[in-house]
Amino acid sequence: MPGKPSNVVAIYPGSFDPITNGHLDLIQRGSRLFDRLIVSILRNETKQPLFTVEERIEMLREVVQNYPNIEVASFNGLLVDYAAAHEATVLLRGIRAISDYEYELQMALMNRRLRPEIETVFLLAQEAYSFISSRLVKEVFSLGGDISGLVPPGVEARMRRQLLKTIKKEA
Ligand code: PNS
Repeated sequence: MPGKPSNVVAIYPGSFDPITNGHLDLIQRGSRLFDRLIVSILRNETKQPLFTVEERIEMLREVVQNYPNIEVASFNGLLVDYAAAHEATVLLRGIRAISDYEYELQMALMNRRLRPEIETVFLLAQEAYSFISSRLVKEVFSLGGDISGLVPPGVEARMRRQLLKTIKKEA
């Protein structure tokens, strides 16, 4: 019978290199909207990440440990196929500003073409987080800027350790 399925599984995919407070806000709001939320990290990235997928999984698990309906995982290949394999019917994405829209629109339409039964649901980022991106956080941090309040405290600590490692390697 058509209608709302009784157990809605959503995937929140991304690079999360590293997770920011903007991502975290979206995850928390997503956990209230869906029965299960799988936060999943793309594995086959061509760009050089700051953190390995395993490190990113650990960081994500640390921040979502008190949410029983959130899981953290990673994936390869087409997102819609991964979603279908996990019986997910929703892809969750955040939109911060109009500049995100074009990229998100392209992906959502392509994903819809591939698997029309899977819906992309967008949540607007909270104003307080709408300027935060993983890329800018890394740039500001590497240049000595203050990133407290932009990422969870555990992530900031890991970034410090990572920076120390790099400095030691270069010395
Ligand atoms: O956090 P990001 O880097 O903006 O996330 C992009 C992501 C992981 C959602 C996107 O690159 C993706 O879904 N990749 C998986 C491969 C795929 O399905 N490509 C076609 C998407 S239209």
